[in-house]
Amino acid sequence: MNNERDTNYPNTHKIINERRYHNEENLLYYLPDDDKETDRIYLEHNILRYIWQGNFSSRIEERLIKENTKVIDLGCGSGQWSIDMSLKYPLSTFIGIDISSISFPPQENKPDNLAFLQHNLLEHPGVPFPNEIFDFVFLRNLAFKMEYNGWGHVINEAVRVTNINGCIEIMNYDLYKDNEEVSNGPIMNKFQLSLNMLHDRDNMKMPTSTDVIEYLYRTNRITNIQVEEKISPLGPWGGKLGELALVNFKMAYNGFKVFLQPYMKITEDEYDNLLNELGNECNKYKTRFYTYRVYGTKC
Ligand SMILES: C[S@@+](CC[C@H](N)C(=O)[O-])C[C@H]1O[C@@H](n2cnc3c(N)ncnc32)[C@H](O)[C@@H]1O
Repeated sequence: MNNERDTNYPNTHKIINERRYHNEENLLYYLPDDDKETDRIYLEHNILRYIWQGNFSSRIEERLIKENTKVIDLGCGSGQWSIDMSLKYPLSTFIGIDISSISFPPQENKPDNLAFLQHNLLEHPGVPFPNEIFDFVFLRNLAFKMEYNGWGHVINEAVRVTNINGCIEIMNYDLYKDNEEVSNGPIMNKFQLSLNMLHDRDNMKMPTSTDVIEYLYRTNRITNIQVEEKISPLGPWGGKLGELALVNFKMAYNGFKVFLQPYMKITEDEYDNLLNELGNECNKYKTRFYTYRVYGTKC
């Protein structure tokens, strides 16, 4: 593999195979942080909004429309969710936090009611704001260690900054769902299992809905915890949605390649060939993927 240092980002990033990756100490993160990944997150944001017919499930819309409601998006990436939300609810205020500021939109391209902040959620404090200041705390598609100083810390911090009667919502893929009704094909299983095993090796996890409920429950401060799940098609058999979801999936697995391909003990060509074959396999097996939202109210 072609590893070189990117002279523009000597400490925070490294270039591997022409993709730019995080290089922060103690940060385990397997996706790139570059323009291609920003494009992928934009596509993914639109896919998820379509699947869920909206950007959130919490009962907060009235407050977002009427009042100066304060919202924070933890691990916002390029901020697609926050941009979308701040345009739709101009009377509310939005903050996006991410460890990397590289993909934040330029100042002139963002709505006035939205600000971005570069910060590592695993630091102390995880969310650099006073207690009970946000009416809506949102977090989507993040993976951390399944330990007190990983998910436990981030969830505790998210709950700490949520206002009394405020809402907290966590949304993710469920990568561990046991696909009983429709079995995945061998390629999909190989990718999914290898990614899960890579995460397990590093004690990382994109939590299941049950994990999130447990974390929220343990804080003793969140009531009325709800969970919703969606099963969506992957591949051309699922029409336009399935096609675009497959594009997103392949882009993501392209980004994971530098970590996953050596771990799968296959060559780069073999890895690429598997990804190229995935569409046909999805059609044959009617492959699906799962997403969930867990949300509740601070008491
Ligand atoms: C897959 S992206 C999801 C972005 C966005 N939430 C979305 O759903 O479109 C995950 C983001 O989490 C950020 N991230 C990972 N670890 C982080 C940490 N410790 N603190 C803050 N951000 C982190 C990454 O930089 C990346 O932008």
